[in-house]
Amino acid sequence: MSTEFEFKPRILGFLCNWCCYAGADLAGVSRYQYPPNIRIIRLMCSGRVDADHILRAFSKGVDGVFIGGCWLGECHYITEGNYDALSMMHLCRESLKKVGINQERLRLEWVSASEGIRFGEVITDFTEQLRRMGPLGKGEGIAAGALKLKLEALTKMVPYTKLVEREKLRVRFDSLEAYDRYFASDELHNLFDGFVGDKLAKSQIMLLLRDKPQTTLEISEALGLDPSEVSRHLNGSARHGLIRFDQGLKRYALA
Ligand code: FES
Repeated sequence: MSTEFEFKPRILGFLCNWCCYAGADLAGVSRYQYPPNIRIIRLMCSGRVDADHILRAFSKGVDGVFIGGCWLGECHYITEGNYDALSMMHLCRESLKKVGINQERLRLEWVSASEGIRFGEVITDFTEQLRRMGPLGKGEGIAAGALKLKLEALTKMVPYTKLVEREKLRVRFDSLEAYDRYFASDELHNLFDGFVGDKLAKSQIMLLLRDKPQTTLEISEALGLDPSEVSRHLNGSARHGLIRFDQGLKRYALA
């Protein structure tokens, strides 16, 4: 008998009532087999899922977040919330990637009410994918303390990220391919870095200094950031009076 610990990923699923939730229901009543790793929250539309919900789930220790909505063009509301869900999902994945968390831990799929088999297949595949990745944080080589800090920094940034998304990054395409192309493009990465990336790095540095004063190298190692980038942010924050260099400790501290 194997005594090896078998990792069982924990998944939180946000499912649209009209399609994916009905698909999950169909999978259940039809007795299609899929791993029991997912816990489900039912929403009236995938567009109701917020970055806050996703980050809170990760902060509470889930290994993956699943969003299930109606196929594009089939949302039951005139606002077509599944397009919003798609943009939000891509930006959340971009934010996770920025702090070193595997973006594949967040997955969005379209499943109609009649696609019980597809629901089972998608959840089976996602569970296997997460199993290969390993537990959140451990799989990325991020220590528990650093993971907590990174998720806290991301959560603090949510109102700002949402504003940037609404004012600068909101796009509307008709196909999934067009979304994939746009969110993989240099144009999007440059915009994201310009508006969100720097602020996110600064936020992580400030949270780290909240615990104790640190050198540039210590910050760089703790956050997995390049020392030159850390130095640039430290100089900028010092100029704004947010931090100071403690001559006695030879370390940066909050002002
Ligand atoms: Fe299902 Fe909007 S009603 S995604």
